[in-house]
Amino acid sequence: MTDALLTITDLTVRFGGLVAVDRFDLTVPSGQIVALVGPNGAGKTTVLNCISGFVTPTNGAIQFAGRDLLRLPRNQRARVGIGRTFQNLQLFASMTVLDNLLTAQHSALRATILGGLLPFGPARAEDARARAHALATLDLLGLAHYAHQVAGTLPFGAQKLVGVARALVVRPQLVLLDEPAAGVMHADVLDLAASLRRWRDEVGTTLLLVEHNMSLVQAVADSVTVLDYGRKLAEGLPQAVLSDPAVLEAYLGSDGAASDATVVAEEAPNVAN
Ligand SMILES: Nc1ncnc2c1ncn2[C@@H]1O[C@H](COP(=O)(O)OP(=O)(O)OP(=O)(O)O)[C@@H](O)[C@H]1O
Ligand SMILES: [Mg+2]
Repeated sequence: MTDALLTITDLTVRFGGLVAVDRFDLTVPSGQIVALVGPNGAGKTTVLNCISGFVTPTNGAIQFAGRDLLRLPRNQRARVGIGRTFQNLQLFASMTVLDNLLTAQHSALRATILGGLLPFGPARAEDARARAHALATLDLLGLAHYAHQVAGTLPFGAQKLVGVARALVVRPQLVLLDEPAAGVMHADVLDLAASLRRWRDEVGTTLLLVEHNMSLVQAVADSVTVLDYGRKLAEGLPQAVLSDPAVLEAYLGSDGAASDATVVAEEAPNVAN
């Protein structure tokens, strides 16, 4: 059993009278891909927001790499090694893919410098290093051929993957992905799955993946946790959890992801290859 990189204990988030997350526990082992699924409004993004600091929980604890994360202000969470993507695509559409990655690295570096930890190095050498690093990242994600294209002109699936690349390029220990497959066509979802697996195997980044697309979950997740009305409904290996009648009912009871949930059984043999 690998060590836990992230441990969420008894997490509760109230927005006024609404309990968005209700006494939720989750352990994310180092080096694994853990999927967090559940119907629309179940509280998935809110959990990610608690980890990255956009939401302050009403109660509970989050430990990351042995530290009490909730004591760290939001702007320091990236510095300790937590990256994320957002449910809405956040790319610089008029910049090239390469420049999008350079900007991400520049922001991360500046955050570190402002923290007073790093002296300024020779700018040229740093630029060359950042560029090489960005190109290596694109290569590993199968995006190298897009490097010099303007991000906003790419197919939507590729743009989503560039969004993931922006989070991964600074090599965080943990990356939170909020629906990277939303709106992406099936063939591109399979590419995304292959890229995420390759990244996990070769770089070892731990991923917490919020996703409605069960083909992606099935193809990449080491374990799956299901949220429903802020509570944990099920947890375990993808195949078992996604065929659990209680889980299927939670999905069928909502409009959002019913069709995704029901295709799991048919698609599983294909995506496993
Ligand atoms: N800042 C906020 N203020 C008030 N209510 C909020 C806030 N953020 C989320 N909520 C509510 O909390 C509940 C959980 O929302 P959340 O966005 O976490 O769900 P989700 O599981 O990510 O859903 P989806 O699959 O649709 O993205 C919803 O009822 C939502 O309306
Ligand atoms: Mg969400």
